[in-house]
Amino acid sequence: MKRLLQFIFALLLLFTFSCNNDSGEQNQQGNDDEVAGLTAEEGLMALKINCYSCHNPLAPSHDELLAPPMVAVKFRYQNLYPDREAFISHMTDFIHEPTEEKAKMKQPVQRFGLMPKTLLSQEEISDISAYIYDHQLEEPAWFAEHFEEEHGQKWVQKRSQKYLEKGRQIAGATFTALSGQLQAAMKRGGVPEASQYCNLAAYPLVDSLSKVHQTAIRRTSLKVRNPKDEPGQEEKEILETYARQDAAGEELKPIVKEIDPNTIAFYAPIRVNEFCLQCHGKQGETLTEENYEVIKELYPEDEAIGYSAGDLRGMWSIRFKKEK
Ligand code: HEC
Ligand code: HEC
Repeated sequence: MKRLLQFIFALLLLFTFSCNNDSGEQNQQGNDDEVAGLTAEEGLMALKINCYSCHNPLAPSHDELLAPPMVAVKFRYQNLYPDREAFISHMTDFIHEPTEEKAKMKQPVQRFGLMPKTLLSQEEISDISAYIYDHQLEEPAWFAEHFEEEHGQKWVQKRSQKYLEKGRQIAGATFTALSGQLQAAMKRGGVPEASQYCNLAAYPLVDSLSKVHQTAIRRTSLKVRNPKDEPGQEEKEILETYARQDAAGEELKPIVKEIDPNTIAFYAPIRVNEFCLQCHGKQGETLTEENYEVIKELYPEDEAIGYSAGDLRGMWSIRFKKEK
């Protein structure tokens, strides 16, 4: 029986391969034997050739499926294994040797039968699983609605979860680096020495995070020190919302928004702590006149003072290039 399924699988493989020839611009080399370290294009092609014959994102309706859509599979695995390595290893393990015990999706197993074993090597499967984890997958047009009916959750919200995670990580890493360096510089030479270290541009980390995640990372505020940090229209609205919520004693949450079809924005509040007050506190009190002179010299238009510990200082504004 297993042999037969394998044979069908191989046939399907051939079939989809020949059917895909018309999508000419994509490169089909390297998919039969080695798919190591897949580029976005290679990954998509590998899915089309090896997986989408059954996990078809173009299935016209829920009733015309041969397997759950790959976005649904990904969603299930991501919930169970948010960590990238765990996700890849569990998915690879199942695909390499599918069994009912390993299956995480019991309903699909009943409806479609267990997935047949593939002819791909473990390494190829692992590369495809990594691609699935790293990239946003095409989803059937009916899927969001179906998902919301079935699970009572907003699918679009779920999808934004990833950007929320990334945004939190980037903001967290940046803030940690910044606070550490600021404090060290403060010890070395007080405010005059440390003043350059509250500038994101002073951090190679920000630069490399931006490159790795294809992001633009900045901070903004309703009262800025550096005029470059002045908010844009959209940012201003979010800042005002945060300020209103803060005044009402509500919890301020990070926000993910689609700016345009190619761009996702992440926002999160920034508060001041005791330490920040040496440069952002009340003039003549927590912020000494002496220190403020230094700051005023560097930033003649400064508005970023008068804060107390715990106050809302501004927010992170991070833009991601939307993954396809
Ligand atoms: C011949 C049809 C077919 C092909 C081709 C196929 N699958 Fe599947 N797959 C299924 C079916 C049917 C299920 C649902 C039943 C199950 O979970 O075993 C499934 C389920 C899965 C699951 C979830 C298993 C679980 O935990 O329940 C993963 C992961 C998966 N497929 C990945 C892939 C990947 C990646 C490819 C391409 C390399 C692929 N499949 C190719 C039919 C297929
Ligand atoms: C040593 C003085 C100093 C300390 C301490 C300091 N800052 Fe700053 N802060 C500055 C300077 C100078 C700028 C302008 C940086 C630039 O040119 O981009 C700035 C800018 C900012 C900005 C960007 C928006 C704007 O006004 O331009 C935020 C947000 C901010 N600081 C928050 C904080 C927080 C939160 C802390 C405490 C964790 C802190 N700062 C501690 C000096 C300081």
